[in-house]
Amino acid sequence: MATLLPFLLFLSIFSDSATAHLQSKEESFISVVVSEKGLDFGKDLLIEKGRKTLIRHRLPDIEKSVKIPVVGTVSMTATNITLLSINVSSSTVQPGESGILIVASGATANLSMNWRYSYRTWLIPIEISDEGSAFVRVEGLEVGLTVGMENQNGTLELNVIECGCYVKDMVITLDGGASWFYQGFVNAFEDRIRSAVESAITKNIIEGTMKLDSLLQTLPKKIDVDDVGVLNVTFVNDPVFGNSSVEFDINGLVIASDEVSMRSYLHENAWISTSCGWILKMLWISLDETVFNSASVVYFQAGLMHWIVDKVPDQSLLNTGSWKFLIPQLYKKYPNDDMILNISVTSPPLIRITPENIGAIISSDMTVHVLDACESIPVACISVVVSVSGVVEISGNNLGGRVELDDFTLKLKWSKVGNFHMHLIQGVMRAFLNIVFVPYVNMHLKQGFPLPIIHGFTLQNADILTFSSRMVICSDVAYTSLSGVV
Ligand SMILES: *[C@@H]1O[C@H](CO)[C@@H](O)[C@H](O)[C@H]1NC(C)=O
Ligand SMILES: *[C@@H]1O[C@H](CO)[C@@H](O)[C@H](O)[C@H]1NC(C)=O
Ligand SMILES: *[C@@H]1O[C@H](CO)[C@@H](O)[C@H](O)[C@H]1NC(C)=O
Ligand SMILES: *[C@@H]1O[C@H](CO)[C@@H](O)[C@H](O)[C@H]1NC(C)=O
Ligand SMILES: *[C@@H]1O[C@H](CO)[C@@H](O)[C@H](O)[C@H]1NC(C)=O
Ligand SMILES: *[C@@H]1O[C@H](CO)[C@@H](O)[C@H](O)[C@H]1NC(C)=O
Ligand SMILES: *[C@@H]1O[C@H](CO)[C@@H](O)[C@H](O)[C@H]1NC(C)=O
Repeated sequence: MATLLPFLLFLSIFSDSATAHLQSKEESFISVVVSEKGLDFGKDLLIEKGRKTLIRHRLPDIEKSVKIPVVGTVSMTATNITLLSINVSSSTVQPGESGILIVASGATANLSMNWRYSYRTWLIPIEISDEGSAFVRVEGLEVGLTVGMENQNGTLELNVIECGCYVKDMVITLDGGASWFYQGFVNAFEDRIRSAVESAITKNIIEGTMKLDSLLQTLPKKIDVDDVGVLNVTFVNDPVFGNSSVEFDINGLVIASDEVSMRSYLHENAWISTSCGWILKMLWISLDETVFNSASVVYFQAGLMHWIVDKVPDQSLLNTGSWKFLIPQLYKKYPNDDMILNISVTSPPLIRITPENIGAIISSDMTVHVLDACESIPVACISVVVSVSGVVEISGNNLGGRVELDDFTLKLKWSKVGNFHMHLIQGVMRAFLNIVFVPYVNMHLKQGFPLPIIHGFTLQNADILTFSSRMVICSDVAYTSLSGVV
């Protein structure tokens, strides 16, 4: 029979389209690569789910009339055929041109059933019958599945290209019954039980794949970053199947919550096939710096990058009294008045990822106001360009970070209190940026940026690497719950 099953499945997956490569690629700013280890993890999870749903599964009853020498025509039934257990000893997963091939081999299964026979002979006018139970041990069970995966309108679609199940051997043990019956039962029922097991498993796998497909259909196309920005996690392009890994590309730009249109970015998506060195992880998530810059644009345009500072650790700095000697005109005009600072970011902060670190340049205008008799009077404006750099960290499924001050430049834009030299305030400004500004930025960064991880899975043992304009997160995932799948 279908002994060539795995080979056929193998062929079907590799004989498929080579034309897929010719399609033009849409831009993607986040790519997720599922490594061999990740595919193995997913495969084990699916096989375990499938195994669990098959246990206690009841197969259709079988009825048959059998001619037995001497005895005559005997009507036999097998009822309550129940799969008790399945044990999968080895399985493999292999990406092909357009899908994934999963093969489970050398599996064993146990079934229990009830048997019954009845017959009449011309010798005795009454019906003779007997019944009992039976136990079936199935060996050398082989299951192969080829699932295709393609992008339909931004969602991944799964379809079963091929699914087969083959039972190599089975041992039937009857509890009770006459010896003539045993051979008759085995002869008549072996093939029927075999095909019932084969089709039950095949049907279960196809149903499971369909369930997984509907789960994929319900995956969100956007993930809220917060109430201002959403991350567009629409799949772009078909998955790319490598020798032992699969790459998924997603749009990956942050858009304003209330915005529907797509901004265009001039950017060459140069996916560098990056491996996580020797540390093999299940997933590689590659984020282009454009992802962070798109977020920066959204938050800037939402008008969120303004900040009024009226409290600082050394509050005396926000009084003209402290500036008596450095900016005498300020003190002369507004003696001992309190001041506030109005800091406005003037363009979206520019984020740069380099092999060494992740940095940002923030350009802002700092307007100094004097509070004089309940009136807020702007007296000077300083252009402050700050560069920060920092580290990113994973917390849960979020990307968080911390930055430190690298450098800054100051330029007086205008002043109503005379021209004063920037080097005079350099020291105070450095302290202010370190003590007030950087902690404020870090407080926002701490809230984190959501990574595109399917609900129910969490990142574990993540490492973060940076390359030129790109960040790669290498991580294992742990499975917490995936209700309703398979
Ligand atoms: C059917 O088989 C299952 C599993 O062996 C058993 O638990 C159950 O009692 C059986 N039912 C009948 C009606 O024999
Ligand atoms: C499955 O098979 C393995 C080895 O073949 C054995 O160690 C294990 O106990 C079996 N599990 C069950 C539930 O039968
Ligand atoms: C099937 O039953 C036999 C005998 O009870 C047992 O040794 C074997 O482990 C069982 N196999 C599975 C897969 O549960
Ligand atoms: C794709 O989406 C568009 C608009 O959202 C819809 O009109 C079209 O029917 C969809 N196509 C498929 C194959 O789902
Ligand atoms: C994939 O496998 C083929 C044949 O084994 C080999 O020629 C090719 O270099 C491999 N590609 C990668 C990316 O490993
Ligand atoms: C999200 O990304 C997809 C694919 O690039 C794009 O077609 C869609 O317009 C984007 N959605 C929004 C709201 O920008
Ligand atoms: C702070 O500055 C911005 C931009 O210059 C301005 O729109 C805003 O009204 C100012 N806020 C206060 C309280 O002065």
